[in-house]
Amino acid sequence: MQLFYSRAFLRSLSTFSTRCAPCVCATPSIVLSSLPQLPPILLPEAGLGNVPHARTRLLEAQDFDAWVALRETVLATLPDPDFYVREDDEKDFFQAHMYPGGELIGVFVDGALVAYAMVELPGEHEAHNLGHVIGLDPAQQGMVAHLSSCMVLPQWRGRQLQRTLLSARLGLAQAHGRPLCMAMVSLRNHRSRHNMLRQGLRVVWTGTIDGLQRHVAMIDLEQGMDFATEGELLLPSLDYEALRAAALAGYACVGEVRAPDGAVSLRYARHLAHNRRPR
Ligand SMILES: CC(C)(COP(=O)(O)OP(=O)(O)OC[C@H]1O[C@@H](n2cnc3c(N)ncnc32)[C@H](O)[C@@H]1OP(=O)(O)O)[C@@H](O)C(=O)NCCC(=O)NCCS
Repeated sequence: MQLFYSRAFLRSLSTFSTRCAPCVCATPSIVLSSLPQLPPILLPEAGLGNVPHARTRLLEAQDFDAWVALRETVLATLPDPDFYVREDDEKDFFQAHMYPGGELIGVFVDGALVAYAMVELPGEHEAHNLGHVIGLDPAQQGMVAHLSSCMVLPQWRGRQLQRTLLSARLGLAQAHGRPLCMAMVSLRNHRSRHNMLRQGLRVVWTGTIDGLQRHVAMIDLEQGMDFATEGELLLPSLDYEALRAAALAGYACVGEVRAPDGAVSLRYARHLAHNRRPR
């Protein structure tokens, strides 16, 4: 995982000089702080952890039809319709995640798209900026990246693709100067929440977005996030009111406990002083 992230980043540096204006290539520090465009190839020479023959690259306009087809397959077979509610306009949604508005990573096996993951770089004053939604200080909303939609075709699940793609997206967000990465997730999507928690995101907010009960999970790649080690709460994962109240009281979900029958309880710890938490 770490290898994926750092090699992709090194690759972005190695190909940078052919893609940028000469004046911004003067020193490595300038390169790091002014990446105008990331390279379309992320890691062609080494597959993903559990799918060694997979290849990744950033999706472009001509990939739209394959992306739609993948979504059709996944949405037609969702185990629970609350896991993912389709956006109003597929074209707008795809377009909003094209550079410079974001990035879209595709995973290909034998040339066919088997998974994708999206990063959005929302404007700091946009109403849908999750920093705004959860009440982050307006001055910090320009540091927010959205870890938007991620889907894996059913036959390719269970190979840690979502987790790997989360890691890659954190790298992309960081490279874009957006250290506050946020994701929206359904309370019922245990798999997705599990993968986010495992990558270090913490559920800092629970509430209603567009009429849907949603968590917002977040990671601060710059300053980290600290939590009290004592006084944890254990809450049922589907108890919306309790989860919402815990977040409002300054607690965040830092882990989960899975019962043999599949029921999930969430561990909430008190969020310690941090100037980038919901107010
Ligand atoms: C969510 C999705 C992207 C995950 O894809 P994936 O890469 O195959 O994820 P995996 O199946 O490898 O995840 C497995 C992890 O979930 C955990 N998991 C599985 N069932 C779980 C449950 N009931 N509770 C908690 N964790 C669970 C597994 O233990 C495993 O974690 P581990 O590796 O730490 O043991 C995929 O299922 C999908 O496309 N779903 C439909 C669309 C969707 O819901 N997208 C997310 C919202 S945008």
